[in-house]
Amino acid sequence: MSWFAKYIKSSVGAKHIMAITGLMLVGFVLAHMLGNLQIFIGRDALNGYAESLKALGPILWIMRIGLIVAVVIHIWSAVRLTTMNAAARPVKYKVVHREKSTFASRVMIWSGIIVLAFLVFHLMQFTFGGGPFPDDFNQLQQMEGYDRHDVFNMVVSGFSRAPVTIAYVIAMFLLCLHLKHGIGSLFQTLGINHPKFNGLIKMAAPGIAVLVFIGNVSMPIACLAGWVKVVV
Ligand code: HEM
Repeated sequence: MSWFAKYIKSSVGAKHIMAITGLMLVGFVLAHMLGNLQIFIGRDALNGYAESLKALGPILWIMRIGLIVAVVIHIWSAVRLTTMNAAARPVKYKVVHREKSTFASRVMIWSGIIVLAFLVFHLMQFTFGGGPFPDDFNQLQQMEGYDRHDVFNMVVSGFSRAPVTIAYVIAMFLLCLHLKHGIGSLFQTLGINHPKFNGLIKMAAPGIAVLVFIGNVSMPIACLAGWVKVVV
């Protein structure tokens, strides 16, 4: 077996792969949130942004494929690491010591599974239109007198339903728990530390998680509260 195959199969390799794909996904979550926050600027800003993404054509497809590959490899590494850990400890501990583990670290698998379920719902709602609310997606079609795809009205009408907004808030809470532990672990795995900046590095994981939570829940809440309204 080549050194590379050995490395990929090892638990250190699995941890590195988990960290690198995790970093890519954090980058996407932050960029996606910053783009979506243009909902607060207005209909033309958000729709113009969606249009400029579509105009990337093949580059957008390369980014999408990269994202799908990162999600699949991230999940595959998580399964591998979990089975390796279980194999290394065939008899379960009778007494579980929890002093060192945090709530976020203990629920990593569950928060990951729920975020994945959220993603399926989210893509059905806003990307494929196969969700429980097809009328929201139909808002994407050109409205009379408005000659562009109306992502703004689709999102605002989607979030005008309380159950949808509540589901988003719960999903974002779990995403942020996942990010808090995940970002902290990836810094450790990749050996990102420096005596001068360790205080800042320690704050980065909870800081990014809280920012993502506030940024992402602000949109559904603003729409449900009627602060951002469908433009007719
Ligand atoms: C409240 C927060 C969010 C809003 C308002 C939002 C909005 C949207 C919209 C409007 C689209 C369709 C874009 C278009 O048709 O042009 C979309 C696609 C997508 N969203 Fe979100 N999103 C949010 C949170 C998230 C989160 C947290 C994730 C990941 C965990 C995510 C992952 C995706 C993905 C993967 C796509 C497909 C991208 C593509 O088609 O290339 N979104 N989102």
